[in-house]
Amino acid sequence: MERIFSGVQPTGNLHLGNYLGALKNWVGLQERFECIYCIVDLHALTVPQDSAALTAHTREVTAAFLASGIDAKNGIIFNQSAVAGHSELAWLLGCLTPLGWLNRMTQFKDKAGKHQEKAGLGLYAYPVLMAADVLLYKATHVPVGEDQKQHLELCRDIAGAFNRQYGVEYFPLPEPQIFGEATRVMSLRDGTAKMSKSDSSDNSRINLTDDRDTIARKVRKAKTDADPLPESVKGLEGRPEAANLVGIYAALAGTDRKAVLDRFAGAQFSAFKEALTELAVEALGPIGEAMTELKRDTATVDGVLKEGAERASAIAEKHLAEIRDLMGLLRCE
Ligand code: TYM
Repeated sequence: MERIFSGVQPTGNLHLGNYLGALKNWVGLQERFECIYCIVDLHALTVPQDSAALTAHTREVTAAFLASGIDAKNGIIFNQSAVAGHSELAWLLGCLTPLGWLNRMTQFKDKAGKHQEKAGLGLYAYPVLMAADVLLYKATHVPVGEDQKQHLELCRDIAGAFNRQYGVEYFPLPEPQIFGEATRVMSLRDGTAKMSKSDSSDNSRINLTDDRDTIARKVRKAKTDADPLPESVKGLEGRPEAANLVGIYAALAGTDRKAVLDRFAGAQFSAFKEALTELAVEALGPIGEAMTELKRDTATVDGVLKEGAERASAIAEKHLAEIRDLMGLLRCE
């Protein structure tokens, strides 16, 4: 069976973009693939973290996985730092990665901003750790939102470099799976900016734990333009806020933009926003409730992570032994 790996950073405020761009799609893949889903706490450390908050967020993201319908029995859920192989493989792959490849990464430029000299080595090497995550399990497919595309192209390049260097087809070149109508959910306050955990305005995003009233208020306040909804998908061009809300509706309803516009063509935003609120509350309400329950039940959440780490380690250790052999690293038993 082909294998999936994907991850989410435990940085709090999981939002509708994470759900529609990642979690919702992950659930549907569980029948066809062996799935490994990871809370990437080592990646979170690439920017300053409060220790207690990082622990709490790791449990919260685990709760979000479970509440969204990810099955920890057939699949594997674990946190990255619990499997030491991620750090080890990141070092090994880092030795094969030219700086020129890393210098092209736009996320580093965005996050480091004007102060690149002060940015940490971890932030710079972030994509190498991400490649290690995927390759440690020889994953064949990686479902993500569009913002991760460049990192996955680098992952394929690194896998190819390893295979060439050691003259074997050891790593499969993993396929990014970027699908659905919401591969890039935009901010509710600005249709040209990505919905993000780090946006200072909470009104820019719908969090998975928002209650009905909060969702209704945020959708009502969402920025729009003055025209009614268009008749065709083409009519959404140049209307980023309208395109975003229609895309969100389509993804939540499990349909496409055309079907949404067939129904709402000519409608005012006030009516459309009401329908969107209903749909969002229907989809997210049960997830938020299940998350709240699970947040109280630390024992269950920690049990899932412990078992997941054991199962992930078994795969990781086998592969690492093969990789060390290929690279000539001596290990005397
Ligand atoms: P992270 O934690 O930023 O986001 C988790 C997932 O949510 C998707 N996403 C979005 N999708 C649509 N619209 C948005 N506005 C939006 N915001 C976030 C992301 O694309 C991602 O799929 N580097 C990764 C985590 C990672 C990883 C991996 C992923 C580490 N190792 C290995 C795949 C494979 C990240 O920071 O995701």
